[in-house]
Amino acid sequence: MMQTEKKAQEMSVRKKKAPVLFQKLKVTPIMKSTFGTLLGFIWKLKWEFIARLVVNAISSLLISLPVLLIKNLVNDVFKSGDLNMLGLYLVGLLVLVGSAGILSYFSGYMNARIGERLIYKLRNDLYLALQRQSFSYFDENRTGDIMARVTSDVDQTRHFLTDVLVQFLNSIIQLAVVLSLMFVLSVPLTLAIIPICAAIFAMIIAYRRRIRPLYKRIREVYGKLTAALQENVSGVRVVRAFAKEEVEIKKFSSKNYDLLSANMNLIRTNTVFGPTMDLVGNISLVVVILLGAYAALEIPGNSVQVATLVSFFILLQMVLGPIKFLANFMSSYQQMIAAGDRIVGILNHTSEITEKPNAINLPSLVGSIDFNAVSFKYPGTEREVLKDISFSIKPGEKVAILGPTGSGKSSMVNLIPRFYDVSGGAILVDGIDIRDCKIKSLRSQIGIVAHDTFLFSISIKDNLLYGNVKASKDEMEAAAKIANIHDFIISLPEGYNTIVGERGISLSGGQRQRISIARSLLINPRIIIFDDSLSAVDVETEYLIQQALKRVMAGRTTLIITQRLSSIRDADKILYLDNGQLKEIGSHADLLAKDGYYARLYKTLYRDQEKQLRELDAYARSREPGMISPALQGALPVENEAVPEKTARQISREQKKADKIELMRVKGIDEARKKLEEMKTKEEEKRKKEAELELEQQQKLEAKKKEAIEKWFERAEKSDVELQKGTKLESEHVAGQDSDSTPHDVALVDATSSTGTATTATTTMKARKALAKEKKSTGHQERSTIPKEDEQH
Ligand SMILES: Nc1ncnc2c1ncn2[C@@H]1O[C@H](COP(=O)(O)OP(=O)(O)OP(=O)(O)O)[C@@H](O)[C@H]1O
Ligand SMILES: [Mg+2]
Repeated sequence: MMQTEKKAQEMSVRKKKAPVLFQKLKVTPIMKSTFGTLLGFIWKLKWEFIARLVVNAISSLLISLPVLLIKNLVNDVFKSGDLNMLGLYLVGLLVLVGSAGILSYFSGYMNARIGERLIYKLRNDLYLALQRQSFSYFDENRTGDIMARVTSDVDQTRHFLTDVLVQFLNSIIQLAVVLSLMFVLSVPLTLAIIPICAAIFAMIIAYRRRIRPLYKRIREVYGKLTAALQENVSGVRVVRAFAKEEVEIKKFSSKNYDLLSANMNLIRTNTVFGPTMDLVGNISLVVVILLGAYAALEIPGNSVQVATLVSFFILLQMVLGPIKFLANFMSSYQQMIAAGDRIVGILNHTSEITEKPNAINLPSLVGSIDFNAVSFKYPGTEREVLKDISFSIKPGEKVAILGPTGSGKSSMVNLIPRFYDVSGGAILVDGIDIRDCKIKSLRSQIGIVAHDTFLFSISIKDNLLYGNVKASKDEMEAAAKIANIHDFIISLPEGYNTIVGERGISLSGGQRQRISIARSLLINPRIIIFDDSLSAVDVETEYLIQQALKRVMAGRTTLIITQRLSSIRDADKILYLDNGQLKEIGSHADLLAKDGYYARLYKTLYRDQEKQLRELDAYARSREPGMISPALQGALPVENEAVPEKTARQISREQKKADKIELMRVKGIDEARKKLEEMKTKEEEKRKKEAELELEQQQKLEAKKKEAIEKWFERAEKSDVELQKGTKLESEHVAGQDSDSTPHDVALVDATSSTGTATTATTTMKARKALAKEKKSTGHQERSTIPKEDEQH
């Protein structure tokens, strides 16, 4: 036990130590380094590459051999004056030079072929690596930087790996061949120039150290410049809208200046280095001439002949060529390694979203979704944007997600197709953890329509079929009708074949959103997510799309992030998020009863929308389905015949038809609105008339009551006067009337007789009080004069 632990510890120490050692030596294991990774690409073409090197070596030898013949030419031809020999030499030279030429043609072709195949493979692998990256990679890296890597960095690397590297190897071969020939010609002379060659190499090493940071700086500044350019072009509308052209020009110009200075720094170093190299090279020539002359003149036996010296001189020139190239090679290497670092950076970057080795192919989904205590942080950040979120969605449910901006709605739905992985908890689809599924089998069953829709610069048809290239024309048009965009598309001169501008710029925001809805519908998803994807369309169009979607999405799980009531009111469930927390969940009625966040939102925001929706509902009910919009009728039958080429007249007729349909739709909505307005004014008038009538009747009633009361008082006064006169009989009669009927009763009798409406208790009370007051003044006499009922008996 102890031993195994010790062994494991030793292993880990060894593992840890290796990189430290490499760091100290300032080298990296070759296959792991940038250069090693890039050499891996050449390794795939190794046989072609080796063949190319062999051809080059032979070609160098063939070019160098004539130099050796010079010595013999001088001795055999010029000294003897034999013209036949001259002819033979000329033929021999022609054969050598001609063969070298033919071989150099082959090597050139092979080089270009290797280069093209290499760049093809490199670009494909790079693109593949980019496709593998998670969303967070694109959050962290600017588009301009990524573009520079796939274009200029790849070009730079290709140039190095094919042209420069091959030339470097050629130079080494040439150097070896020529140095060997020089040794054959004269060992002392060759030995004399070797220190000069060593000095040149030492200079190269110094130069390499000096220019490494300069190239790094150039690449960095270049990356910033391209990123700024890309951002400026993408955001050109914002720049113009804020009239910031001058500021942007200044910013760009400053970055461009940084690039200029970085390049000038490099040029300054290069211009010092180039002539220094020339100087050292020329010193070697002087040394050869001096030593050669000394040997020819001073050394007895004249071991170095003039002919040998000439040959040596030519070979020396052939050595200096490759050595000078090596200096340039180092600068090219630095340049390539900076570009290569960035390429290998992408190739070796592993995505956080990975598939488990035993991931399962998700079967056809039923559509339930469960969030179990999900929390989430964006990679590389510390803040939790979703905190402990748990809920369940049953298959086929329609769920509306609400919450203030930045509350985490988009972040939450982006977790379902695994665009990002949860930081805590789990998400289950049909009871299976999405991290256990194959990503393709998950994403192919989920349609997501984002708020910021992106369309490719291809035809509308190809954009629509992007997720499902096998969809039929009928299916495509049906989806376009549901998204209420079919009428618009066929109104375009090229119809479905119209090419969409860059980022769909020739289309409005609402049109783009509708095309992207149709695109998602075409993959026939079991779960569909709309992330504020109808925000750019008008209320009426959204209403029409909602109606059409209702039928299509029946039985499918739908999640809608929205601010509009039309999308919320049919929801089975409403989720309310705030600051990354799930604050409320329930139906519209449940949440209203709860009187919390949603209820507050509903009261403040949605009341007005509800009114508008009711109008639209009333309108939709009042019309024949065919009159509303083709979108509401769902997919119209489309003939399956092959479509013949359209004539100009047909196109114009179709255009007119499309215009008419659009006009009818707009007119229909206007008419409905007018009718509703009319209805409203008519109803108001009716209500006003009724109120006026009621008022009139009330006034009449009041007048009658007043009259009756006045009459009663008149009569009462009369009887009082008569009582005072002592007329008992009459007084009794009046007193009897008093006990049986009050002024109120009188008024009641009078009023009911004329209008049939009851008077109020207040009126009665008032009348009684008035009577009591009246009686108070005469009360004594009355009470004394009017006997009570029992008294009467
Ligand atoms: N790619 C990202 N990297 C880091 N943080 C992010 C990223 N995207 C969003 N956030 C942060 O996550 C939080 C939630 O953002 P999210 O986009 O989910 O909000 P939202 O509710 O959809 O808002 P809105 O209604 O404005 O669309 C915000 O605070 C935001 O700053
Ligand atoms: Mg959002």
